[in-house]
Formats: sequence, structure tokens, C-alpha cells
Amino acid sequence: MFETVSWRDEMSVGREDIDSQHKRLLNIINRLGEEITANERYEIEKILNSLLKYTVYHFGYEEELFDGYPRTNAHKQEHTDFFEFMIKQQELWQSTGEIKLEDLRRYLNCWLNHHISVIDKEAFEWLEALEAEQNEMPDSASESKKAL
Ligand SMILES: [Fe+2]
Repeated sequence: MFETVSWRDEMSVGREDIDSQHKRLLNIINRLGEEITANERYEIEKILNSLLKYTVYHFGYEEELFDGYPRTNAHKQEHTDFFEFMIKQQELWQSTGEIKLEDLRRYLNCWLNHHISVIDKEAFEWLEALEAEQNEMPDSASESKKAL
């Protein structure tokens, strides 16, 4: 089966939780692609809903981790763009009963490749540096706790 979007190892952000969420997102999109190809109308409706639901969960999860990230607004904006694109696809589907797999494939490949490989990676590098910095502090923190 021809995949709508494919996972590539360079998409890894170096965290198991996020990599598996991204893989799940890609998996839902690929199932959607399969159902569009098969023209399974009931399944398309169901998967569009799951995709939107999962997107809200995943973006929320990331945005919570990036609390304090200097480029958080730009990152959130990208999430909003994706979500709005998918909402438009759903509305189009509901009003016309049509969804263009080629448009979907083009947009999603472009967005996901750029977003995961560049935007998310950058944000997770920031988070990793922050966590490393915080891990260097417990000694002095526990020292001051002991002193209390
Ligand atoms: Fe993201």
C-alpha cells in the first residue's frame, strides 16, 4: 500500500514518547489515505475525527513540554495551521463528500517533514539543554534543603 506519509529515521527527536506519538500520527494519516483510496465513506469520517482528536492531544502534550521555550508562539502557530488545514478538509468532506488525497499528501508531507525534522527537533534540543541544566542543579538544591 502506497503510504501518504512515511516515517524516516531522521525524523526522530530523540525522545521515545514523542517519536511514538509522531509515528501514531503518521499511522492515522496513512489509514485515512487508505480509506480515501478505497472510498470507504464511513471509515473516512471516523478516521478524520480520530485524527483531529489525536492532533489536539499530541499538540497539547508538546506545548506543555515547551512552556518557556522562546519560540513557542511560532511553534504553536504551526500547530494551529495544521489543525485548521485538517478542519477545512473535514468541512470539505462533510459538505461535498470529497477529499483530495493528492492535496492531502502534498500538504501533509511538506508540513510533517518540515515540522518534525526542523521545528520540533529545534524545540526538543532546547528542552534537552534545559533538562541537562536542571540536572546539574539538584546538588545545590538538596544542599539548601538540608540546610533548612
Ligand atoms: Fe510540534
